[in-house]
Amino acid sequence: MTKGIIFDLDGVIVDTAKYHYLAWKKLANELGFEFTKAQNELFKGVSRKRCLEILLEIGNREATQEEFDSWMIEKNVDYLKYIENMDASEILPDVPKILEFLKQNNIPIALGSASKNAQPILEKVGLLHYFDAIVDGNNVTKAKPDPEVFLLAAKQLGVNADDCIVFEDAVAGVEAANAAKMISIGIGDKDILSEAQFNFRDFTEISIEFIEGLIKN
Ligand code: BG6
Ligand code: MG
Repeated sequence: MTKGIIFDLDGVIVDTAKYHYLAWKKLANELGFEFTKAQNELFKGVSRKRCLEILLEIGNREATQEEFDSWMIEKNVDYLKYIENMDASEILPDVPKILEFLKQNNIPIALGSASKNAQPILEKVGLLHYFDAIVDGNNVTKAKPDPEVFLLAAKQLGVNADDCIVFEDAVAGVEAANAAKMISIGIGDKDILSEAQFNFRDFTEISIEFIEGLIKN
């Protein structure tokens, strides 16, 4: 049985967390409160709607349904401006090397992201053609840490869930991969991602031999 590899997008393939942060910070400031980089950690892997709920809790703000909806739109309009000019230079180091190796070995590759902007970002940075399946915030009803996004990705690849390997930078994402009974690989701070089965700071630490070992077992 073949293995399948599932990549999260934000923080794994590209460093878009900084753009999400700037857009949320702008909204927070307009609403009259601060939003720090440390608080932005809570937003990793979390849906746009849940992020706004957390932001309003941070600012101790109430919102009518109308305000809530318009702030969701405003944040995304600002985010889209930040990502408008993204190109291949924003791909995180050694990601193309791993994708190329997987492709050459006919290993199916999926995206499993909470973002509704995933596909245009992959297009902008020129990586879309590597992906055999894309499951993102437009296809799922339950957000990470629910395993839905990864289970759907496995299904679309035609691979058993327990034959999938997930690269994730968010605690919620690692939990989702574990709940799906997949191999979870944490990309980032191993103290934060301590529930992952393997931990790496970034892809420059991952050798081709390690990937070979994963796809053979
Ligand atoms: C995740 C990010 O990948 O996507 C979160 O880690 C973000 O920070 C979420 O909130 C939703 O993204 P978008 O692009 O649909 O607002
Ligand atoms: Mg992420």
